[in-house]
Amino acid sequence: MKVLGVNALFHDPAAALVIDGTVVAAAEEERFSRRKHGHRPVPFAAWELPEQAARWCLEHAGLDVGDLDAVTYSFDPALAEPAEGLGLFDPWDHLRRTYAREAPGFLATALPGLDPAQVRFVPHHVAHAGSAALAAPCADADVLVLDGRGECGSSLAGTYAGGELTVHAAQRLPHSLGLHYEDLTDHLGFLRSSDEFKVMALASYGSPRFLDEIRPLVRPDGHGGFVTERVDWQSLAKRLAPGEEWGQDHADLAATVQVRLEEVLLELARWLRERSGGSRLTLAGGVALNCVANTRLHAESGYDEVWVQPAAGDAGTALGGALHVAAGAGDRIEPMPGADLGRGWDDEEIGARLRTAQVPHERVDDPARLAAETAACLAADGVVAWFQGRSEFGPRALGHRSLLANPAHAVNLERLNDVKGREQFRPVAPMVLAERAAEIFSRGPLPSPYMLFVHDVAPAWRDRIPAVVHVDGTARVQTVDREQEPLMARVLEEFDRRTGLPVVVNTSLNTAGRPMVDDPRDALECFGSAPVSMLVIGSFLVRRPGW
Ligand SMILES: [Fe+2]
Repeated sequence: MKVLGVNALFHDPAAALVIDGTVVAAAEEERFSRRKHGHRPVPFAAWELPEQAARWCLEHAGLDVGDLDAVTYSFDPALAEPAEGLGLFDPWDHLRRTYAREAPGFLATALPGLDPAQVRFVPHHVAHAGSAALAAPCADADVLVLDGRGECGSSLAGTYAGGELTVHAAQRLPHSLGLHYEDLTDHLGFLRSSDEFKVMALASYGSPRFLDEIRPLVRPDGHGGFVTERVDWQSLAKRLAPGEEWGQDHADLAATVQVRLEEVLLELARWLRERSGGSRLTLAGGVALNCVANTRLHAESGYDEVWVQPAAGDAGTALGGALHVAAGAGDRIEPMPGADLGRGWDDEEIGARLRTAQVPHERVDDPARLAAETAACLAADGVVAWFQGRSEFGPRALGHRSLLANPAHAVNLERLNDVKGREQFRPVAPMVLAERAAEIFSRGPLPSPYMLFVHDVAPAWRDRIPAVVHVDGTARVQTVDREQEPLMARVLEEFDRRTGLPVVVNTSLNTAGRPMVDDPRDALECFGSAPVSMLVIGSFLVRRPGW
């Protein structure tokens, strides 16, 4: 069957298309609208439908709205309860519930020809669960979903077997590990529901000296759920205004909340494993983007394998909702082929854009030479904007819309954070040839194609690739498989030949506050406004004078 999945309620509006159990396309609306996360994560901003992403999914597959068998919406208003009854303060909640109930009508307006009766509501955490266990490379797995909130809960622990989900536990609101982490994000002057990864990065600068205070307030309940009580953050570290300088107290508080999150997640995973007897764990929900916690789950939960949906945030529910309904209808679900599920452009289209923009460029049809020119630029300490293939679904650049740089110079971290207008405490990540990864990186799982785990950098390598080593000696690695990413593998090989380093710096191709680059025009705008030495786009090289 043909199912269009839609996420449109809390964060990260997105659409995905599943045809006969195969993921054909998935994209976030922000890549089209150029508004990060689709909208500001203000208390009520549910009106943004992923119209452009949905239309593109259909166009990509050559389908009309009338060809669809179902459209899924990853929130079930029939399960929702008023916020007051859930112990949440959320004066806009009634609007959200009304909006969700009316979603079939809104969708029919955005996608003319859609019969509103075709819209199927999928419970929010079931949609997350589908994005993990059904999209994973292995069939049949346990699944743990943790996020801020769904209809009236904040977690799901279950097992998918034969395409069918058994739910073992679900935590009811107001208890929420996601909202707890978001509260701290807000207290530290960062943007709630958006900047949680900054708290994780900050945690590396602190020690968890408030554990005695936090442990009694955030604790597992022994039945697959947990308790999160209100924390008086101000008594532990002073509230920060946006952009205000953080101090040691703030880093220590971040470290405490991070460690406690890891401890509770481990308990939840062990409970699930005991309950199900499973050997494979899959994860989704915004909390599953916490790669430090994921590494501990991989190392200590007792599961043989841990797989995390790369679009673990709400965007992934578009995909998971569609997969869940397809599986329920009896379709055999294929694992997702990779995270490159968004828009792609052929050389003819890219060439036309370059000519329209009257940008001097060179066409290089030989991939070996394209890789060699890129590696030479990086070896000479240039920064390369890299635009190849289809764009990534999820928040990480995985070598399709990336900024690449030389990891040998510590100053390149600062340089890239400047290009992107990011805080200087935030790390950038290494990309490494899969077959060389184990020489340099340990502890986290290898291969690690989606940058969802942290690894320890071998002491002998720390001084050789300082730009990608975080303050605690770790790195969030992406391994590059030669078969799946032949051109990037060639760049890494050529760079290694020139420098003795099989590693390059990889960070997302965007400038401050903007979504990742998606189409060639975005790439040219980014290249035009940022100190980038070379743009490698399809088979074309665009050089800054002097490079
Ligand atoms: Fe969610």
